[in-house]
Amino acid sequence: MSEPKKLFIKTYGCQMNVYDSERMVEAMQADGYVTTEHAEDADLVLLNTCHIREKASEKLYSDLGRLRPLKTANPDMKIGVAGCVAQAEGGEIMRRMPLVDLVVGPQSYHRLPEMARTGRKQIDTEFPTEDKFDLLPKRKALRGPSAFLTVQEGCDKFCAFCVVPYTRGAEVSRPLQRIVDEARDLVERGVKDITLLGQNVNAYHSDKTGLAGLVRTLARIDGLERVRYTTSHPNDMEDDLIAAHADEPKLMPYLHLPVQSGSDRILKAMNRKHTAEQYLRLIERVRLARPDILLSSDFIVGFPGETDADFQQTLDLVSAVGYGMAYSFKYSARPGTPAAEKPDVDAAVADARLQVLQALVTRQQRACQDAMVGRDVGVLYDKPGRMPGQMVGKSDHLHAVHVTDPAGKPGDLVRVRILASSSNSLAGERIS
Ligand code: 5AD
Ligand code: SF4
Repeated sequence: MSEPKKLFIKTYGCQMNVYDSERMVEAMQADGYVTTEHAEDADLVLLNTCHIREKASEKLYSDLGRLRPLKTANPDMKIGVAGCVAQAEGGEIMRRMPLVDLVVGPQSYHRLPEMARTGRKQIDTEFPTEDKFDLLPKRKALRGPSAFLTVQEGCDKFCAFCVVPYTRGAEVSRPLQRIVDEARDLVERGVKDITLLGQNVNAYHSDKTGLAGLVRTLARIDGLERVRYTTSHPNDMEDDLIAAHADEPKLMPYLHLPVQSGSDRILKAMNRKHTAEQYLRLIERVRLARPDILLSSDFIVGFPGETDADFQQTLDLVSAVGYGMAYSFKYSARPGTPAAEKPDVDAAVADARLQVLQALVTRQQRACQDAMVGRDVGVLYDKPGRMPGQMVGKSDHLHAVHVTDPAGKPGDLVRVRILASSSNSLAGERIS
């Protein structure tokens, strides 16, 4: 019998790419491939790329440069580029890097096995009419009791800095029943915690069901203990979703709600279509529904035209909200977006602002984590810890928690009293 072909896959960027990579692996496994951790052993190397900022995009080209000697040593090796750079740059990738054999966009990865089989150079960056999810094999490659599940793709918001509406296309929601079937299948395989993914997940709608209805439907699945969703837009935060945070116990107390800036002038230039005040009122309503909710956001500093006063308003907003988690990025001009036409803020000024914001956010994250000490929280064990008899899991609020529990197993959902907080995790004792 001949050896099975080997697939090496590297994933850049967001959680949806993690999900997509899992599904591509499953599709290739159904075609006889096994995975390898080492690119040099692989018959097919797949790079699932991110286009959101220039740095992420350029990473592809430096990694391709590193693959060149491997391909010279093994000319039969095929190299594929998937994901958002594939979608945005298409054939340009092959012109710049002739060692690339396949270019496959995020909506076409169900066609990957066939593309790999033919052995020819190919590009597929269509937005096909068939639904890739219908054509992919059932979920298999699960990593522990938590899983991602894509429910919505694309974005119609057109923030002035963002490539997503171009790389991932218009907003499309998957039919409710398909999602329920996929969730049931995951639960049968031992999953207890599902994070629903979408570039604009709270714009989800299928027939008359919005995200709140989807969450409530999934919460009825026996054995599914936790539901989360990401990423949301403030303008799609409907009343029924806020209400679900109040009365749906399986909906976890964590909300990633990016605001990007605290300056109304910059929010307008970003085409965010909300003010800082509207965002703060929304946060108040969410906290009224679920007082212990952990809030998270994304911020961009150095957006074209941002002044010191605008940046100060961002700091003020962060201070007013008190985030448990936040991601901040230096603005990166992306080709084809409206903001790319405008003059950049001085790079040193943007760097300095980023440091100030990150320091503030780090203090808030630490304060939020420290405030957990003495509380009893739910923890879902992911895997054994580094110390003997120790388990590591995620709390309801998504903090990493270390627990000494020699009898513990991955997938156990336990109550833990938090005893200590260190730089990026909590420690506690199991109480039930
Ligand atoms: N430059 C910097 N950050 C960006 N993001 C999106 N586009 C850009 C860009 N051009 C950030 C936003 C978004 C997160 C996923 O990435 O904060 O919420
Ligand atoms: Fe990009 Fe998010 Fe704005 Fe859509 S809502 S354009 S994905 S930043």
